[in-house]
Amino acid sequence: MDTLVEADVFPATQQYTYLNAASVAPMSKMAARATLDWQEDLALRGTVHFDEEAESRVFDSLREVGAGLLGAFPDEIAGASNASESLCSVAWALSPGPGNNVVSSRIEFPSVVYPWLRVARSTGCQVRLTKDQNHVIDFDELVSLVDDQTSAVCLSHVQYSTGQRLDLKALSDVAHRHGALLVVDATQSAGAVPIDVVADDIDILVTSGYKWLCGPFGAALMFVRRALHDSIEPGLVGWRSTSQVFDFQADHLEWAPNASRFEFGTLAYGCAIGLVTAAQHLLEVGIENIYRYNLGLAARLVEGLSTVGAEFVTPAADDLQSSIVTARFPGQDQARVARRLNEEGVVVSPRIGAVRFAPHLYNTAQDIDQALEKLEGILAES
Ligand SMILES: Cc1ncc(COP(=O)(O)O)c(C=O)c1O
Repeated sequence: MDTLVEADVFPATQQYTYLNAASVAPMSKMAARATLDWQEDLALRGTVHFDEEAESRVFDSLREVGAGLLGAFPDEIAGASNASESLCSVAWALSPGPGNNVVSSRIEFPSVVYPWLRVARSTGCQVRLTKDQNHVIDFDELVSLVDDQTSAVCLSHVQYSTGQRLDLKALSDVAHRHGALLVVDATQSAGAVPIDVVADDIDILVTSGYKWLCGPFGAALMFVRRALHDSIEPGLVGWRSTSQVFDFQADHLEWAPNASRFEFGTLAYGCAIGLVTAAQHLLEVGIENIYRYNLGLAARLVEGLSTVGAEFVTPAADDLQSSIVTARFPGQDQARVARRLNEEGVVVSPRIGAVRFAPHLYNTAQDIDQALEKLEGILAES
C-alpha cells in the first residue's frame, strides 16, 4: 500500500503512531506555520498588515475552500469558530414551535441534540430521538419518527462513536417528503469522506476544523443552501451578520444576503488561515483518494483486530463506511487498553466502553501493524 503524503508533512506522525483523527488530528507543517505566522504578525504589527480588507479576505478564503470541499457555491459558506456554535445558531434560527418536532438520535454527539433540547424548553417543540440499540442508528426507526410536523432532521454524517455513515440522500429524501430541513454535522466526515451537498440535497451542514480537516481548534465551516438565504434568521447575531459590516449601524438589522449572515463576530483568524491551508492541502491530495486510502488502513486494522479476538462496535466492520473502527477486547478493562496504547505511543481514544481507532491520510500500513503489535503485548499483560 503506497503512502499518500511524505512522512515529514505531518511531524507528529514521526513521533507517534497517531490513530486519533476522530478526536483531534495533528496539523501539517504548512497549516501550523500559517497559523503561527499570522499570530506573530498580529503581535508585532497589529492592523498595519492585518487591516479590514485582510480580515474580509480570511472569510473569503474560508468560503472558497469550503465550497471546494462540499460542492457548494462560495456564498453558501460561512466561517465559524466551532460546530457547536453553528448548530446553536441553526436551532434558534428554525425555533420549531409547540406543534412541531425535530428528529435526531439518542447516541448522537451531544452538540447535535442539545441546541434543540434548549430551544424546546422555550418553544415547547418536541425532540424525537431514535433508541438505537447497540450504538447503531436504525434507518427505519428514524424514518418512523419523521412526519409532516417535523421541522428538521439533524444528524451526523459519520457517527463519532462508531464510524457508522448515514446515507445523506436517503435522509434528505425523507426530510423533504415531509417539508422538513436536513441539517448535517459533518465534523466526523469532512476532509475524509467525499461530500456533495447538491447531489445529497442537503439544506444546512456544519463541520469543525480540527478533526479530519487537520486544522487547528478555533475555526470551522458552515453551509447554508441558497434557497434558504432570504428567509433564515440566524440565532446568533452580531456586527458581522450584516451586508455592510463596517457601517456599524446599530439602529436596524439588515442581514447579509447569503450564508455569511451566520457570521456574527471576529474569528480566531490565525486558526481560520490554518484551516484554509489544511483544507487546501487535503483538496490537493483529493478527498476521494483520502477516503479510499483510509478505508484500506481501516480494513487492515479490522483484519488484525479480528485475529486478537476483538468484538466490533463499529457496525459491519467488514464492510467499512468510514475509517473509524471501535472495538472491545473481551475480558479486558477497555479504558486500561486505551491508556496503555497511549503510553506506548499509539494514540487512540476510549469511547463508549471500547477503544476507538481513527487512521487518516498521514498513517501508513506500518502504523497499523505497529499498533497491532503493541496491542497484542498489552492484551497479554492482564
Ligand atoms: C459529530 C461531532 N460534532 C461536533 C463535535 C464538536 O465540535 P466543536 O468542538 O467544533 O463544537 C464533535 C467532537 O467530537 C463531533 O464528533
